[in-house]
Amino acid sequence: MNIRIDKFLGNMGIGTRTEIKKYIKQKLIMVDGEIIKSSSIKIDTDVNEVRFNNRIIEFRDKVYLMMNKPQEVISATYDNMHETVIDLLDEDYHHFDLFPMGRLDIDTEGLLILTNDGKLSHRVLSPKHHVNKTYYAEVDGQVLDEHIEIFEEGIDLEDFTTQPATLQIIHSEEGYSEVHITISEGKFHQVKRMVNAIGMNVTYLKRLKMGGLELDETLELGEYRELEEAEIKMLLGE
Ligand code: URA
Repeated sequence: MNIRIDKFLGNMGIGTRTEIKKYIKQKLIMVDGEIIKSSSIKIDTDVNEVRFNNRIIEFRDKVYLMMNKPQEVISATYDNMHETVIDLLDEDYHHFDLFPMGRLDIDTEGLLILTNDGKLSHRVLSPKHHVNKTYYAEVDGQVLDEHIEIFEEGIDLEDFTTQPATLQIIHSEEGYSEVHITISEGKFHQVKRMVNAIGMNVTYLKRLKMGGLELDETLELGEYRELEEAEIKMLLGE
């Protein structure tokens, strides 16, 4: 990519145009080992090596983060009442215009992808691609084997009928169950509504998996890390 040096450094979060001018005056910017004198020179990001304060600045425009979303935080880029998942990010990420790939309810925890790759997000969320999402749920009733079949058949939720879903019972007793639920869509409150349809309520919900990508359980609630290249592919189940 051919791009002006001040735009490149701005995109990589080094500073504003005015700041870059100042850094150039301070002789802090080098291209291929040479101190540069003008902020309007063009570089080729595939060819030239850019250094700021002697640190190599790698070019990238797409960012992919995995977050372990906590409760009380909204999966949106802006909210005038609550903290958003974007507010949890370090300043270094702010200029990338990241957004959450799909939504988790305010009281749902677990795997959330943040990216600025609209194309990938669209593919993962599109019903056409059937990317499975697996949730761990605690439920205020006794989930039984007979409910497995109801999930498998797809549940009529009045405004739509769900695709076949998988219900796996982990623990079940009178008044309390723990289950894994896998759905291929992601409609509003879908898991909670499916559980309501069998006469119970979800009391705790956590997303564990999207496509082939599992939540990194070493991430504490509110923590995040970048995805590796292979993990990005796993999102699509590739
Ligand atoms: N289904 C729900 O009901 N809530 C979520 O946050 C995700 C899936």
